[in-house]
Amino acid sequence: MPILNENFLNLSQRYLFQEIARRTADYRTSHPDADIISMGIGDVSLPLAPAVIDAMHRAVDEEARQKTFRGYGPERGYLFLREAIANGDYASRGIDISPDEIFVNDGAKSDTGNIGDLFSADNKVGIADPVYPVYVDTNLMGGRPIYYIPCNEKNSFTGDIPQIKLDIVYLCFPNNPTGAVITKEKLQMWVDYALDNDCIIMYDSAYKAFIRDDSLPHSIYEIPEARKCAIEFRSFSKTAGFTGIRCGYTVIPDEIRLTTKTGERIQLNKWWERRQGCKFNGASYISQRGAEAIYTPEGLAQTQAQTDYYLHTASLIRQCLESLGLHPQGGTNAPYIWAKTPEGMSSWEFFDFLLDKAQVVITPGAGFGKAGEGWFRMTSFTSKEQTECALTRFKSCFPGKNLQNR
Ligand code: MLT
Repeated sequence: MPILNENFLNLSQRYLFQEIARRTADYRTSHPDADIISMGIGDVSLPLAPAVIDAMHRAVDEEARQKTFRGYGPERGYLFLREAIANGDYASRGIDISPDEIFVNDGAKSDTGNIGDLFSADNKVGIADPVYPVYVDTNLMGGRPIYYIPCNEKNSFTGDIPQIKLDIVYLCFPNNPTGAVITKEKLQMWVDYALDNDCIIMYDSAYKAFIRDDSLPHSIYEIPEARKCAIEFRSFSKTAGFTGIRCGYTVIPDEIRLTTKTGERIQLNKWWERRQGCKFNGASYISQRGAEAIYTPEGLAQTQAQTDYYLHTASLIRQCLESLGLHPQGGTNAPYIWAKTPEGMSSWEFFDFLLDKAQVVITPGAGFGKAGEGWFRMTSFTSKEQTECALTRFKSCFPGKNLQNR
């Protein structure tokens, strides 16, 4: 008799964005003429950059000829892309990461979840609240105890350093969902905590391309000794519009070790390679050639123009929410804007209210954890025209009102 992994019973019935999609689809069924604008899931709206498109076309042409056709590639990614990443994202910022410490994947979501395969159920895991739900859900699936780290206005949404010993801590900056950023000084405190407590930091910097304040760390490896305690997850989804192409990467420095029950210290990236060899056949050659093109001078300029565009729509959202008295967070070095719901509505009440009154979809803060209750998130990835239209409708729900945060 097949028996369920009962850890799954601890999950909510649907993943957050599935629940939003379900409610939106239900609304569409009962209002077939509704012109719904999605500012919920962070999915990009601009087409791929020309440099990426050209590189992918060339890769398709290679696949079309017997002489240059490629089948299975290396599970950890082609060397041409790992070298481009090591030079473009690390050496260029004075950080020493070898191509052999980089694992190309099909997007950061997979690896931030899959990395749990290497950690026993005995690890105590610290996760911010509110947070990108993948970290919580996948640790629940693995049966690991979770300690929530409240992130709120008092700690600038960067969490207080825990007073207890944790084995794993997840951090995400620029943050999803709050749009918060972390300073080098605060990140140093997290690295010090990890080194003192033999803890591994899972550092998700999928949104680093939105940082415009150069005093902020783009990578956790800008902090001395972070190589000894941090794994970094990156994605091309938001950097270069790859949400539909699927490509990202994970960095596991050689120094990162896990301990066996007999006390042996084993190199984590060797076992990650073993895991990937078994469960992953690599990202497609075509998407990896597209990703490589991001690091060319044209690719860098074109993709920066895209993130500039999204930061501009973020500024429109901020201005609108500020004009309503909602004091939004985020949206300056990050694509997400986070604000308290108006008039004391719960997060899901506000979701339903806005869908019904304005046909605008936002993400309810409660979907990111208990501490997100009473908040909502808006994404800047919607087109400028659609964003302007959504904001006009949003404002018209509260005519002449100053909503003032609670
Ligand atoms: C989000 O909206 O939080 C993201 O798009 C989800 C993701 O990157 O998987």
